[in-house]
Amino acid sequence: MKFETSITETRQTIAKARQDGLSVGYVPTMGYFHDGHLSLIRTARESCGFVVVSIFVNPLQFGPKEDLAAYPRNIERDCSLAAQAGADLVFAPGEGEMYRPRFSTAVEVGRLGTVLCGASRPGHFRGVATVVVKLLNIVRPDVAFFGEKDAQQLIIIRRVVEDLDIPTTIKGIPTVREADGLAMSSRNVYLTPEERGAAPVIYRALLAAEDAIKRGERRTAEVLGVIGGVLQTEPLLKPDYFAAVGLHDLEERPTLQGEILLAIAARIGKARLIDNLPLDVSDTVKRIAI
Ligand code: PAJ
Repeated sequence: MKFETSITETRQTIAKARQDGLSVGYVPTMGYFHDGHLSLIRTARESCGFVVVSIFVNPLQFGPKEDLAAYPRNIERDCSLAAQAGADLVFAPGEGEMYRPRFSTAVEVGRLGTVLCGASRPGHFRGVATVVVKLLNIVRPDVAFFGEKDAQQLIIIRRVVEDLDIPTTIKGIPTVREADGLAMSSRNVYLTPEERGAAPVIYRALLAAEDAIKRGERRTAEVLGVIGGVLQTEPLLKPDYFAAVGLHDLEERPTLQGEILLAIAARIGKARLIDNLPLDVSDTVKRIAI
């Protein structure tokens, strides 16, 4: 596996793979790998000839009071895990390589970036969209892989790629969970053992809502009541939001119909955790891909 920190050399390495006739698959990350990241890399390996993984903790997507400095990092371990999962190239640029002096451009994502996580993290999705467009321009992949765990991010990236005519196919990959249902996240390391014990309540609340919808409940307010009731059983957890919205426009409606997203964000101790469940609600209720 190759390792590069320079944009120019990364482009040269990828150009050579293309000359060899290989399709390029790409997994953008901020590192500190867990099985969620590795599932993206393995899926890329199965379908692409050359697999690029980037590791870059993007300062643009962190607010001034957020955890940029504390964000966990371990580049050596990440490289060995990426190689085992089938990566051909790890691109890990420094901040100065990505944001050179006088950098001033941003990708504005509009209303999709102001709801749900965007409401409590102003500018976050602008920062994500800006770095992802830069990275896609550097790597120019045929296919890029994103986790459904960050559903709003995935929906926004699909929008940006379509709106800006970026010639990359965006593939969503199902959320990888711990045995007790907690969605894997690099931020789970912030949890104390007691907080870790409380965290699976987020997924349990999503399952309770799914169950209520399966039993015929279609009123959004009632379903949100179910989620709130389950979350309340855990005093260590402070909900940021819980929502039931249209999967594509992220808008709330009085009743649930068609493709929807149940989504929760909550603080436990130092961590802000998110999780979601995408569902197709008609006469029957089915889990769907994003
Ligand atoms: P990061 O949080 O490192 O996540 C990298 C990719 O892994 C994202 O597509 C994310 O959705 C996916 N992922 C995280 N946890 C997952 C899980 N439990 N199951 C499946 N996939 C999971 O998301 C980012 O980095 C950044 O915002 C980035 C897109 C790299 C832009 O900076």
